[in-house]
Amino acid sequence: MAIRNIRKEGDQILRKKARMVPEVTDRIKVLLDDMADTMYHADGVGLAAPQVGILKRVIVVDPHDDTTGLVKLINPEIIEADGEQIGVEGCLSIPNFNATVKRPEHVKVKYMDEEGKEKIWDAHGFPAVILSHEIDHLNGILFRDKSIEEVKYSSDND
Ligand code: NI
Repeated sequence: MAIRNIRKEGDQILRKKARMVPEVTDRIKVLLDDMADTMYHADGVGLAAPQVGILKRVIVVDPHDDTTGLVKLINPEIIEADGEQIGVEGCLSIPNFNATVKRPEHVKVKYMDEEGKEKIWDAHGFPAVILSHEIDHLNGILFRDKSIEEVKYSSDND
């Protein structure tokens, strides 16, 4: 268990395409555990390996809802997408920036779990947003690229 350093926008690694993971090794399991620790420590709902400087197709997601806990995904791939939703997003690699983004309402994601088994996640609503955002990271895409309008949060309450 370890907290890793989160790379920030401007770091060129965030713009590179991550590589497929051929098999689940102990090294990949440690990476997944560290990514989960790093995500929770930063109060995030998702994190992709390039954000901790590793160009491998690995993400962790926790939508913090009633039905889903931590999910670790290896080689995630969107195999179906439909509908649309527009919501406000943020990113641990782009501090103090929030903006609206259009995403599919539903995505079907195929991935490999920690045991090397193939799984499907049929995600709607917020989890579909997180999965789309994190899988974008694996292809060097940041949500700023797709942002429609910046949303400013006021720090005072008057
Ligand atoms: Ni992000």
